[in-house]
Amino acid sequence: MSDKVHPVPEGWAKRAYIDKARYEADYRRSVEDPEGYWGEIGKRVDWIKPFSKVKNTSFAPGNVSIRWYEDGTLNVSANCIDRHLATRGDQTAILWEGDDPADSRAITYRELHEQVCRFANALKARGVKKGDRVTIYLPMIPEAAYAMLACARIGAIHSIVFGGFSPDSLAGRIEGCESRCLITADEGLRGGRKVPLKANADAAIEKAGGVDTVFVVTRTGADVPMVEGRDVRYEDAIAAASPECEPEEMNAEDPLFILYTSGSTGKPKGVLHTTGGYLVFASFTHQLIFDYHDGDVYWCTADVGWVTGHSYIVYGPLANGATTLMFEGVPNYPSTSRFWEVVDKHKVNIFYTAPTAIRALMGGGEGPVKKTSRESLRLLGSVGEPINPEAWEWYYRVVGDSRCPIVDTWWQTETGGILITPLPGATDLKPGSATKPFFGIRPELVDAEGKPLEGAAEGNLVIADSWPGQMRTVYGDHKRFEETYFSTYPNKYFTGDGCRRDADGYYWITGRVDDVINVSGHRMGTAEVESSLVAHEKVSEAAVVGYPHDVKGQGIYAYVTLMAGVEGTEDLKKELVAWVRKDIGPIASPDLIQFAPGLPKTRSGKIMRRILRKIAEDEFAALGDTSTLADPGVVDDLIEHRQNRR
Ligand code: WT7
Repeated sequence: MSDKVHPVPEGWAKRAYIDKARYEADYRRSVEDPEGYWGEIGKRVDWIKPFSKVKNTSFAPGNVSIRWYEDGTLNVSANCIDRHLATRGDQTAILWEGDDPADSRAITYRELHEQVCRFANALKARGVKKGDRVTIYLPMIPEAAYAMLACARIGAIHSIVFGGFSPDSLAGRIEGCESRCLITADEGLRGGRKVPLKANADAAIEKAGGVDTVFVVTRTGADVPMVEGRDVRYEDAIAAASPECEPEEMNAEDPLFILYTSGSTGKPKGVLHTTGGYLVFASFTHQLIFDYHDGDVYWCTADVGWVTGHSYIVYGPLANGATTLMFEGVPNYPSTSRFWEVVDKHKVNIFYTAPTAIRALMGGGEGPVKKTSRESLRLLGSVGEPINPEAWEWYYRVVGDSRCPIVDTWWQTETGGILITPLPGATDLKPGSATKPFFGIRPELVDAEGKPLEGAAEGNLVIADSWPGQMRTVYGDHKRFEETYFSTYPNKYFTGDGCRRDADGYYWITGRVDDVINVSGHRMGTAEVESSLVAHEKVSEAAVVGYPHDVKGQGIYAYVTLMAGVEGTEDLKKELVAWVRKDIGPIASPDLIQFAPGLPKTRSGKIMRRILRKIAEDEFAALGDTSTLADPGVVDDLIEHRQNRR
């Protein structure tokens, strides 16, 4: 927590779209008359058939239904490309910066149009049609954006799987939405290292089955085996395809994409977003929160494998006719000055990244930042996890030269876009706080029983009413959607986050209150890591919790009980880390493993995670009530052999 306040800088109130008075007035209107407010905002996108209905939403138990602009029709790709052609056909749409600093490319809106149309036609030629699911497993190359927009153009539903996920994780996501078509590359390139995407894809398809078309983009030129009749070279397919493709007329509530994300239980859920409301919300939030103006160069460092890449690299910025920078690499390659060198090279005005990157770079001191100019920067953003005030101040002072406001944006895969955030011309900033709700958003804090908390308070964060970018369902499992988000506190959307509201009405996200952990801004279900560990032949039981980690925000701490007779060696720890890495992907690798002869359980056999969290945090002096433990003795052993000693 920090008491420091950074007032809206001089000049910003005037230049920004929204100043204090406007925020107050528009916010009030947006929550008092959502129908009228969103009806007006909905006109910002191009509709084929205009909507006459605005909001039709219910959070009622057993009847959760979310529809926005439901009788309107439009096409997302036409909104992101075609409508800009007359005015900015020669403007750069995508500014691509490769892993190697010598590799960069500018793609104009006109070129984007041609590439997307060609790819859309290539998809059609392979029988992909409206409503079909297409899985995208690509590195951060322009073809990833082409693929998304080509799907949107023909009404196919894309499901992007982050390139760091394993073949098994990819297989689960292919099966989950029954994709027949997969788009991948020969290899990815990150930090000078190659990622065997095609080989992973082949392994995944073998496991999942059902895929009859694989487009393979050439990235490194590696010699990868092609399966006759199934695999198609992307370059050949687009060369043979026509550069014109009529956009499909989509209903506002037709699906746009599925994105798998981790929850507290079970397999990752397919979060479904639809067309009209999502695009209105992504483009509107992008414009106002980043104070995007024509001509700005905007850079979000996320990967399109996460929702941030969907809403704030591709859909929001392109719908606004922006120049959006797409970066293939990592912050520390070839050196830890890379981000700032890219900022200078492309004269970036707006820069949006994650606290984990800031903390990692902070470790290297000011030198690598200060040797660059960064004078083009005007606004900084943060997303993915709470940003600690020290990292905030460093970002502000060292990166932004105390000149650029920071928007700390709180949102989730499920929310489609930013819900709690400063507006740079309207909000005085408090380091570590995501500050105030965006227009139309009604955050509330409730206690464990669901009782609303007023004024300054700390509790669970819920949202009281719908907004256009909200997810519509869990793909293929509406019941799970209702149970996960609407059953804990009836008639409210439950975020899974804990939160404090201060006397000024500022929101401070305290982190997840469920069994989800946030590792370097990546969301992981503890249950997923546990089920991977217990699948190992030497493991009998596992419990996974998060613990504070200086760079990653949270680290993964695994308590592992071995099969009788198996010895817990350092080699076995390494083996288990490698096992999880291979099973799920590098982002799920446990940071610390503790072999535990027993886990603390209640008499009914439930693992007491509260105790495991405390020990992992090295806070074992305050274990709380342990009287319900079946065998209190196990706790002493766990404390004695704890792995995180600060
Ligand atoms: C969870 C959602 C939103 C895109 C990236 C993550 C945490 C996100 C913030 C923030 C504090 C944050 C929350 C949330 N989170 N942004 N500015 N301050 N916490 O999306 O993978 O769906 O994760 O990330 O815990 O619930 P996601």
